Amino acid sequence: MKSKSIRGNWSLKTKKFGSIPVIFLCIFFFLSGFFGSSLFSKSQDDRPRSRFLESTNEATQNNLLPAGESGDNSITSIPFQILSWKPRALYFPNFANSEQCESIIEMARGGLEPSILALREGETEEQTKGVRTSSGMFISASEDKTGILYAIEEKISRATRIPRVNGEAFNILRYEVGQRYMSHYDAFNPAEYGPQKSQRIASFLLYLSDVEEGGETMFPFENGLNMDGSYGYEDCIGLKVRPRQGDGLLFYSLLHNGTIDPTSLHGSCPVIKGEKWVATKWIRDQEQDD
Ligand SMILES: *[C@@H]1O[C@H](CO)[C@@H](O)[C@H](O)[C@H]1NC(C)=O
Repeated sequence: MKSKSIRGNWSLKTKKFGSIPVIFLCIFFFLSGFFGSSLFSKSQDDRPRSRFLESTNEATQNNLLPAGESGDNSITSIPFQILSWKPRALYFPNFANSEQCESIIEMARGGLEPSILALREGETEEQTKGVRTSSGMFISASEDKTGILYAIEEKISRATRIPRVNGEAFNILRYEVGQRYMSHYDAFNPAEYGPQKSQRIASFLLYLSDVEEGGETMFPFENGLNMDGSYGYEDCIGLKVRPRQGDGLLFYSLLHNGTIDPTSLHGSCPVIKGEKWVATKWIRDQEQDD
């Protein structure tokens, strides 16, 4: 019904115009389209390649599609480097700025406690002494009145394409000289930890400080290396990522079929000089209530 009445209006209007002005209008639009497009393509051909690449960003923002109710009205562009496919590990330079990093450190400094471990079935705390020697604190974005953690969380959800609600609260960690985290998996293998209600899919690390020496995040099994059974979980080998204030590191613990990626084994090398601060967000396959 609606489309019929619109068509009715249109035919009335064209009758009012008469046929001669319509022909002139047609010629005008044809010529302007013809010369306009040839001018446009010429100016693009003359542009040096780098300028052309720069301009694509602007052009992309102008080509926005109408988003759905849960979508964005802007194009997101977060630069990253693929550090490895096995495990899938991505580096995000300058993910946060230094003011954001310093504020997060100050939020956590007063509340640090020795980091704890999830124990395997039958394992005792005594047996795991020395595996993880950092101090830390959990803070959820809703507890942070400055809004910084919320902004970081939003950016992480865009970088990972996994909604905010799937993330655990931030675990802010400090490693002092000699402190480390021996190689481990972030996902919980049901064979070792028992049945899991939800599983960790991915981990996002935001380095909050530079470290003078040591403190790298290492992936000893990257690309299947060192997997002959001889690895002792303490050695700092394989792919190493140097912490730098504001940089992000994302890696996935699960393969696409839902099983744990054996190459996602990782650890934190001991800090040799300086202090390492990092904000960790573990992302799960189920929504979290925080
Ligand atoms: C999942 O995928 C990996 C890699 O392709 C494969 O080795 C493994 O057997 C698969 N597991 C299941 C349960 O399908």
